[in-house]
Amino acid sequence: MPFGRDTDAIVAGRDTNGSLVNPLTPSTTWESNNLAEMAAKATGMRAGGLYSRYSNPTVRSFEEAMALLEGAESSLAFASGMGAIASTILALCSNGDHIVAQKQLYGGTRTFLESACPRFGIDVTFVDGTSPSAFAAAVRPGKTMLVIAEIPSNPMLDVVDLAALGQIKGPFKLVDSTVATPVALRPIEHGADLVVHSVTKGIAGHNDATLGVVSGETELIDAIWAYSVVHGAAPSPYDAHNALRGIRTLPLRTKHQSQTALTLARQLESHPAVSRVRYLGCESHPQHELAKSMLDQSCTILSFELKDGLAAATKTMDALKLIRRTTSFGGPETLICHPATSTHAGTDPAELNAAGVSPGLLRLSVGLEDPEDLWADLSSTF
Ligand SMILES: Cc1ncc(COP(=O)(O)O)c(C=O)c1O
Repeated sequence: MPFGRDTDAIVAGRDTNGSLVNPLTPSTTWESNNLAEMAAKATGMRAGGLYSRYSNPTVRSFEEAMALLEGAESSLAFASGMGAIASTILALCSNGDHIVAQKQLYGGTRTFLESACPRFGIDVTFVDGTSPSAFAAAVRPGKTMLVIAEIPSNPMLDVVDLAALGQIKGPFKLVDSTVATPVALRPIEHGADLVVHSVTKGIAGHNDATLGVVSGETELIDAIWAYSVVHGAAPSPYDAHNALRGIRTLPLRTKHQSQTALTLARQLESHPAVSRVRYLGCESHPQHELAKSMLDQSCTILSFELKDGLAAATKTMDALKLIRRTTSFGGPETLICHPATSTHAGTDPAELNAAGVSPGLLRLSVGLEDPEDLWADLSSTF
């Protein structure tokens, strides 16, 4: 009988040596007993006991935990979320190939697709992820290797209809589900081939690990490993150790933070200084019903737009006392950022504005503080 999801987070990736906490193994290299053993390790698929860039036991435990949470056969960790995204793309795409990507993407992913991919002869078509047929319409049979979606997107929290995405035949379907975490969404269950996360965010959950992961079928993950081992965005065992600790409380943190996010979103919705709130749990979100059908939780991130634009956003950012000004999200502290000038600073301002990332938009990553304290801090700045 499979366990429930909260139990999975507790039992996932356990070491079998009796230690309650996974051992942290910082060794970069391991001894072999003889030449034949060393040769077998050096040529084996993801072989352990040789060299940390190939495989590390602490990282392996983290990868096994992620595969369980994601409902995937296999997972592979990287030095960061961007390490996972860039290595996966370069492992699967070559000169002459084509990618269809949602235009509502994290700024770093967007920049990689716009600037690095064309340099390697990989053509990218950007589509509106909220239009269910847009991905399929842009696929070039025999040429499109990857279809890339981010669910929900950062910072507008748009969602892509995974049922429609799952129907696309030919290219691999890759979903960045960082904002949701596997507690809220498991894209493989909906027909995606690969799921990536910036583990740096909610999964590690304490702002002390920079890590990424990709999950999918063993054959595909092995192929990505064969490239990644020479690409070299290898994860640190220290970060994998911190991420394993984060996984134990991930369901609890996500539920609590999502509840506080809903409370704040409702308060923001009824405040006269606020022109628009984006939160998946609010009926006002244009894709609220679709999100409800795919996600188990409404997530810990919300965005809101202040009526008086950049001046009001600047005033709020500068006056906050409890909520911290940072670009990351998913940790215990409530964090705020101004996407137009930080996470999405590299994107064309006209396109940003059209996508809703206006000068008055602020993104809130809701933490574990008392909701009353957060609202007092936020509302005092309006
Ligand atoms: C949705 C999303 N994907 C990927 C990344 C990149 O992750 P990392 O910063 O760990 O490289 C981020 C970072 O903010 C993100 O928000």
